[in-house]
Amino acid sequence: MAEDQNFDVVIIGGGPGGYNAAVRAGQLGLKTAIVEMRGVLGGTCLNVGCMPSKALLHASELFEAASSEFASIGIEVPAPKLNLVQMMKAKQDSVTALTKGVEFLMKKNKVTYFVGRGTIAGQGRVTVTGNDGATQTLVTKNIVIATGSEPTPLPGVDVDQKQIVDSTGALSLPSVPKSLVVVGAGIIGLELGSVWRRLGAQVTVVEFLDRITPGMDTEVATAFQKALVKQGVSFKLGTKVTKAATGAKGVELTLEPAAGGAQEKVTADVVLVAIGRRPFTKGLGLETVGVTTDQRGFIPTNHFKTAAPGVWAIGDVITGPMLAHKAEEDAVACIELIAGKAGHVDYNLVPSVVYTFPEVAWVGQTEDQLKAAGVQYKAGKFPFTANSRAKINHETEGFVKFLADAKTDKVLGVHMMGPQVGEMVGEVCVLMAFGGASEDLARTCHPHPTRSEAVRQAAMGVEGWTMQA
Ligand code: FAD
Ligand code: NAI
Repeated sequence: MAEDQNFDVVIIGGGPGGYNAAVRAGQLGLKTAIVEMRGVLGGTCLNVGCMPSKALLHASELFEAASSEFASIGIEVPAPKLNLVQMMKAKQDSVTALTKGVEFLMKKNKVTYFVGRGTIAGQGRVTVTGNDGATQTLVTKNIVIATGSEPTPLPGVDVDQKQIVDSTGALSLPSVPKSLVVVGAGIIGLELGSVWRRLGAQVTVVEFLDRITPGMDTEVATAFQKALVKQGVSFKLGTKVTKAATGAKGVELTLEPAAGGAQEKVTADVVLVAIGRRPFTKGLGLETVGVTTDQRGFIPTNHFKTAAPGVWAIGDVITGPMLAHKAEEDAVACIELIAGKAGHVDYNLVPSVVYTFPEVAWVGQTEDQLKAAGVQYKAGKFPFTANSRAKINHETEGFVKFLADAKTDKVLGVHMMGPQVGEMVGEVCVLMAFGGASEDLARTCHPHPTRSEAVRQAAMGVEGWTMQA
C-alpha cells in the first residue's frame, strides 16, 4: 500500500459534479484530489450522455436535412449515404477531445487525479483501488461524493446491449435497426429515438403515463408530441411492458394497458429501455461513516452536507433534476460552503432542454404547477410562424410562452418549443435570477432578425401588446 496522502478535499467521481467541484476547489486554493474509476474524466455526461447524444443528434439532423430539405431551398445533391462508422468515429473523437480538456483543467487547477475506485474508509479517509488492484489511502478534511447515476432497470426486460439496450448501447449501435421500440417517453427516449428515426429506423415509443415527458408543461408536451408524430414517431401511451423475449427475429415485447387489460405483442429489432436513472452508490463505503440512502437510493443532504461531518454529496446522487448543469451548480455551491463562503443553488432556476427537432426548453414553473398552487398568473404567447427569422429558415413550428404573476408581473416560468430554443432560454434564466418582470424583457431591445425576438414578443403578450402577431 502506498503512503497516505493529505488533502483538503477528495472528490469521488469525475463527472460534471466532480470535475467542476475540483476546478472550483483548486481555484479557491484547496489541496484537492479527484478519484474516477472509469479511466477517463467527464462522467456520464461526456462519455455516455450529453455529449455523444448531442453529437449524434447534430449529425443525424444534418443527414435528414440533406435528404429532405436541401432540394426545397435550391440545393440539389444526390441522396446522402449514411456512413455510420464515420458518424460514430466523429462522435468519439469529439468525446475524447472533451475528456482530455477536463484532464487539462485538473492540471491547470493543481488537482491530483487518481484513476481507480474510491471507497470511503471512515471519516476523512478514502481508499483508491486501481485497476491493477493496488490500493492507496487518501487522508482528507472533506469528502465530496459525486458518483452520479445509472440507468434504472426494467424488471422482465434485461439489457444485453445488443438487442435490448440502455442509453449507452443506443449511442453505439453498429447498424441502423429497421425497427426500434423505446420504452419511456422521457428525454433520453425522445432524443435517441429521434437520432435513429432520422437515420432510418421505424420508431415506436411505449410510455406508462398517458402523456409524454412528465415535468414538461402540458400544452408544450402536447404540441411536442404532435411534432414528433408528424416526423413519423409512433406512440403507445398508457401502456406498460411486462415481458421481453429475444430471439433470432428480434425482440418480442409483451405490452399491457397501464391500468391492466388485454395483452398485445410487438416485435422490434432493437429495444431501448429509457425509464429514468437511479443514483449510483455501489461500493462507496457509505456505511463506514454512517450515511444511509433514502428509499430511492439518493444520499440525503442539507445544503450538500450528509449526515456525516466532513462528507458532502452533489449532482445526480442527491435529489433534484438529474442534469449536468445542475450538478455543476451543486459543485460550485458545495465547494464554496467548504471554503467558508455562501454557496447556494436556486433549483427553480435550473433550465431543462430537450435537444430534439424542434427543441423544447423551459425554466421555472409550468402552467400546470401554477394552476395546482392556485397562483394568479397572466400568459403571453408568440408563435414562430410570426417570427421573421423562423420564416425565412422554413422552421416555424413551435412557440414561446411567458407566465408572469398577475399582480406583480414577476416572471414565474417560460416555455419554448422551436429550433435551438435551448440557446434562447439562458436570457430568461438571467431575467428570473434578478426577479425580473415580463415588462423588463418586453422593453429590452433584441437583435433582428433572430428567433430571440419571439421571446420578446411573448413577453409583450403578458401585458397584451404583442406587436407582430
Ligand atoms: P456522472 O456524470 O454520472 O459522474 C459520476 C462519475 O463517478 C462516473 O464517471 C463514475 O464512473 C464515477 N464513479 C462512481 N462511483 C465511483 C467510485 N466509487 N469511485 C470512483 N469513481 C466513481 N444532462 C444535461 O444537462 N444535458 C444533456 O443533454 C444530457 N444528456 C444526457 C444524455 C444521456 C444519454 C444521459 C444518460 C444523460 C444525460 N444527461 C444530460 C444527464 C447528465 O449526464 C447527468 O445529469 C450528469 O452527468 C450528472 O453528473 P454527476 O457528476 O452527478 O454524475
Ligand atoms: P425520464 O425520467 O426523463 O423519463 C422516463 C420516462 O419513462 C417517463 O416518461 C416515465 O413515465 C416512463 N416510464 C417509467 N417507467 C416506465 C415503464 N415501466 N414503462 C414505460 N414507461 C415508463 O428518464 P430518461 O429519459 O431515462 O432520462 C434520465 C435522465 O437523464 C432524465 O431525468 C434527464 O434528467 C437526464 N437527461 C437529460 C437530457 C437533457 O437534458 N437533454 C438528455 C437525456 C437525459
